[in-house]
Amino acid sequence: PVEKRVADLLARMTLEEKLGQMTQVAVSKLMSDGWGLGPLRGELLERYLVQRGIGSVLSGGGMGPVPNTPRAWAEMTNALQRAAVEKGRLGIPLLYGVDAVHGHNNVVGATLYPHNLGLAATWNPALVEQVARRVGQELRATGTLWNFAPVADLGRDPRWGRFYETFGEDPLLAGSLVAATVRGLQAGRVAATLKHFTGYGQPLGGTDRSPAFLAPRTLQEVWLPPFRAGLEAGALTVMANSGSLNGVPVHASRYLLTDVLRGQMGFKGVVISDWNDIDKLVGDHKAAAGFAEAVALSVNAGVDVYMVPMEVERYLQTLKELVEAGRIPRARVDEAAGRVLRLKFELGLFERPYAEVAEAEKVVEAQRPLAKQAALESVTLLENAASTLPLTNVRTLLVTGPAATDKTMQMGGWSIDWQGKEGAKAPGATVLEGLQKGAPQGVKVAYADPKDARALAAAVRASDAVVVALGEKPYAENEGNNLTGELPAEQYKLLRDLEAMGKPVVLVLLAGRPLAFPADAWLVPEAILMAYLPGSEAGSALADVLFGRHNPSGRLPFTWPKLFGQVPFTYDRYPDIYPKAEPLYPFGYGLSYTDFTYRLQAARATATAVEVDVEVRNTGKRAGSDVVQLYTRFPPLGLLAPRERLVAFAKVNLEPGQTRTLKLTAPLDRFALVPGDVFSLELPRVLPGRYVLRVGEQTVGVEVR
Ligand code: IFM
Repeated sequence: PVEKRVADLLARMTLEEKLGQMTQVAVSKLMSDGWGLGPLRGELLERYLVQRGIGSVLSGGGMGPVPNTPRAWAEMTNALQRAAVEKGRLGIPLLYGVDAVHGHNNVVGATLYPHNLGLAATWNPALVEQVARRVGQELRATGTLWNFAPVADLGRDPRWGRFYETFGEDPLLAGSLVAATVRGLQAGRVAATLKHFTGYGQPLGGTDRSPAFLAPRTLQEVWLPPFRAGLEAGALTVMANSGSLNGVPVHASRYLLTDVLRGQMGFKGVVISDWNDIDKLVGDHKAAAGFAEAVALSVNAGVDVYMVPMEVERYLQTLKELVEAGRIPRARVDEAAGRVLRLKFELGLFERPYAEVAEAEKVVEAQRPLAKQAALESVTLLENAASTLPLTNVRTLLVTGPAATDKTMQMGGWSIDWQGKEGAKAPGATVLEGLQKGAPQGVKVAYADPKDARALAAAVRASDAVVVALGEKPYAENEGNNLTGELPAEQYKLLRDLEAMGKPVVLVLLAGRPLAFPADAWLVPEAILMAYLPGSEAGSALADVLFGRHNPSGRLPFTWPKLFGQVPFTYDRYPDIYPKAEPLYPFGYGLSYTDFTYRLQAARATATAVEVDVEVRNTGKRAGSDVVQLYTRFPPLGLLAPRERLVAFAKVNLEPGQTRTLKLTAPLDRFALVPGDVFSLELPRVLPGRYVLRVGEQTVGVEVR
């Protein structure tokens, strides 16, 4: 029936109305006809939504109603919707899009969850799905039915400023979490967007949007699987990579946007451009001679919706002229506009175009317990000399460091505003406040300003242990460029000074990627906790970990290099010819307050998977969760193969002394490689041979054919 409704509607639409559905404007356009925010202006709604029939509107980071409360947000989307539905000739409802990448993060009052990198450290797809489901409910309650999330790019180069927006370096882990996010969002009929298709995460030198170069093999084996996982979960939309891949801007690549995405991967939904990106084909990429050329290239390549044309009227006019001149087939317009209409039908927008304003406030109440659970499961224990943690014999704990009191550092970018400068307005305590509130009875939590050396020294003398919170200032695309991977020098100095004072030091890191540490500051502290960008519940989660109410179970979703000169440096790289320095911490690494041992039992290959039973035992004195990771090593196959590849994982909670046998099932496609020459366009397939499976130090062979 949806197909029929789409066809009926298309048949009644003019060319101009169809082109409107292919266009998305920034909400500021309807407020100031430019970039300024303010009240919606009736004549602009009339011009763009009613006359031009623009099909969707977005809030790029921080753009929204002023003030951006849940109620104001719902009222704003309803006002836009009324113009489209009640005044538009055919009453086609409007789609409103945002980047809710860690909560409904442009709305003041919405709880912020950990950024994806932290969520990935939980290795818990069910939890990530629950988070996405909550976010989806908040979006729907405010009339925001299109989310430009999840990022399905991998984080394989920590120099890249959007590293923290990814689920880390591994295609299987990231793919599972991408799929979980899609399921969670779309359960509430909010469209998910897999972005940025594809190659966006590996820009040359780590600079956002600089050209990417990926062998066809690497594309198939590494970069496409998380997108495929998201598509299999039913993702309704995909955003194109703003950069170029192998010398072709992706917005102009028919091969990627149509042959691969639709032909090979079977995608049927809407492809949206990134911000201004058809214009960028001319001025930035210098790949198109003029705007008309760029529009023809991009629309014919497969872009269905243009997000924020530099000049809306010029875009609509150019599209129309191209269609009339036969340079964009009318069938292509029907296809693109038809996909947008189908999306609107699938989301139930025609039946329920309006948000319940009263509901919005109720739903966007603090989602604290779930945000805390996510933050708790993300925290990764990197060092714990002499069982410094949990802090059991501490009467006075000193807390210091810039990240202890600067809330923007725990929130990261895309928090209230684009670059996260307003992140302190998001709900939640600072790390210091969280530790003060969460300290057990009898433990005093003191604070010293790290800039006041004398007061700091006195406070250290008066304490039994020190927690120092260091971290990065927030950043997003643009400001995330040109980062060195190092913290400001004064943060390292603070760490060294504290260490020299002789008390046990616990370093808490709030950062969106692995950091480079000078040799004399690193590994000095007794204990190190990586907290990623934990969001609203940073402090309460860290209190539970430090004081032993929660046993940390986070595992690194990336390889932590020893030297930044090593990057890109992933665990699944091809074998090294010259021995390389080991990473500081390997992919999948993380300690616990207890210990686990494994015993691998015989593995068997079925027609679709490799199965192996793993006995896991908690040999320590505390209950805890472990992430059991199954890797394969490849037999010699006449080509290079990854040193290892993650093929399955499972998270398990065990009481002290408890043993459980898990059946791990690794889908056969995780064993697949693209055979033949490195330029081969063949698809990956499983090459027969004897594979070696590994869990921890245990290995077992399996014959795969
Ligand atoms: O969705 C984002 C994208 O990730 C980067 N450029 C802007 C878009 C809309 O805000």
